[in-house]
Amino acid sequence: MHKIFANTLFIGKQVISLPSCHSTNDLMAQLSAKKQLHEGAIIITEHQTKGKGQRGNQWNSPPGENLTFSVFLKPNFLLASQQFELNRIVSLSVLDVIKEFESSVKAYVKWPNDLIVNKKKIGGILIENSIHKGNIAESIIGIGFNVNQDSELLATATSLKNVFDKKFELEKVLLSVVEKIEHYYLIARSRDFKLLHQLYEEKLYLKDKVAFYEDSTGKFNGIIRKVSPEGVIEIEDETENFRKYQFKEVKLLS
Ligand code: BTN
Repeated sequence: MHKIFANTLFIGKQVISLPSCHSTNDLMAQLSAKKQLHEGAIIITEHQTKGKGQRGNQWNSPPGENLTFSVFLKPNFLLASQQFELNRIVSLSVLDVIKEFESSVKAYVKWPNDLIVNKKKIGGILIENSIHKGNIAESIIGIGFNVNQDSELLATATSLKNVFDKKFELEKVLLSVVEKIEHYYLIARSRDFKLLHQLYEEKLYLKDKVAFYEDSTGKFNGIIRKVSPEGVIEIEDETENFRKYQFKEVKLLS
């Protein structure tokens, strides 16, 4: 991928495109430390040799088939306690892109930010923030979006190609994602958090549906009721008790 022509104000104006690298998030952190990045910079690669996922997992993607990239933001208008707004912005952006291809497709965000179509994961997001004096000084937003992958998809994963039965131009998909991120980022910058919260809740996977969860005390049936502004999920259990969880404290089992 060479120069991209995103219809944006600042995201995607600086693009570093590499055939291969360890992890676009890690490379972005290194270049940011050397002050080599402008806000909105993108690092994209065809092949990550040490792609990172949530919870210390690896993110593996066959070379050239999917999108693996990172976006550099400086959201210092957000307090550290507002970090979850970035999860909302990016989740909504990828979901919008999927919906643009076919509006009837049901695409959801599984808290905190797994992107789900047909009960399978189509993309994941890894956001790494640095905080300065209580605000988010820099944010590295890593996105793995399964686009043309056909082969060796896990039983729990899918891709745009699998869903729509056709191939997509990676560059076009990237442009759409980047344009949406800027759109939602500007909504956050104008402080319309209420809108972001409402849109995120509308797309929340298994909201108001009974499902099976596990926390540190064991397994239970519960119903997701809401996600707080700070990103804490509230699951109502069978005794009508509202259990609240931060990242990694609860797992969906079914
Ligand atoms: C997840 O586990 O769901 C998050 C996956 C995030 C993967 C992306 S790919 C581009 C960026 N660079 C990384 O090393 N990880 C993220």
